[in-house]
Amino acid sequence: MHPIIAEDYDTLSRIAADIVSDLVRTHPRASLIAPTGETPLGLYRALAARRRRGEFDASYLRVVQLDDYLGLDDDDPRSLYRWMKTAFLDPLSVPDAHVIRLRGNTPDPDAACRAYEATVRAAGGIDLAVLGLGPNGHLGFNEPPIGPDAPTRRVALTPASVESNARYWGGRDRVPTAALTAGMDVLLAARQTLLVVSGAHKRAILHRTVEGPIGPDVPASYLQQANNVTILADKAAWGE
Ligand code: GLP
Repeated sequence: MHPIIAEDYDTLSRIAADIVSDLVRTHPRASLIAPTGETPLGLYRALAARRRRGEFDASYLRVVQLDDYLGLDDDDPRSLYRWMKTAFLDPLSVPDAHVIRLRGNTPDPDAACRAYEATVRAAGGIDLAVLGLGPNGHLGFNEPPIGPDAPTRRVALTPASVESNARYWGGRDRVPTAALTAGMDVLLAARQTLLVVSGAHKRAILHRTVEGPIGPDVPASYLQQANNVTILADKAAWGE
């Protein structure tokens, strides 16, 4: 694990944009996981600004969906695909055909998860997984306790995740309680990982991730054993 401590959130977003830009410059057809959540929004704004200045081209990028709530249509305001489309795909003009979906609105979730794993494998895996850190240490919706081999699957959200997602949708009652998530197997096999963490409220779970025991209670702790992992945190999250 390679930690980078940014002075503040804007600096964190700029450094994250540098890392994504470098990859896309050298590998225009790279496959990238672009998470939802609030932490990566500054990164996405920075990339969109670079695109407008002609400094970033995502025309050939392949984007892999990380997770979604179960049972929501794409036009539901809470759909995480819709969030990714609004925050990332549209501002960067990523063609729909370049997106590997994990569809929450499917009659057969297990088949959708198997198809996702097969499609990601056939695409050569993940070049860069940009990930946020759940307040309970989850990655995507890999809720604790979970092992490093857990596949892409249907999950029940823990009360902690429902609580933390409530701010996105205006209350706990609006948060779906089931989701599909890319498996730990997919995430930990990424050739490069960028974990972005901002804010003092993430400090305790960040330190358990980076230097706590590796195990199922903090899914992100398995990143200690993964390849080429950068932990990009602002000072508020990292502490002194
Ligand atoms: C959510 C998502 C994750 C996200 C994390 C952190 O529940 N499932 O993919 O990375 O929690 O979100 P935020 O960046 O808003 O703190």
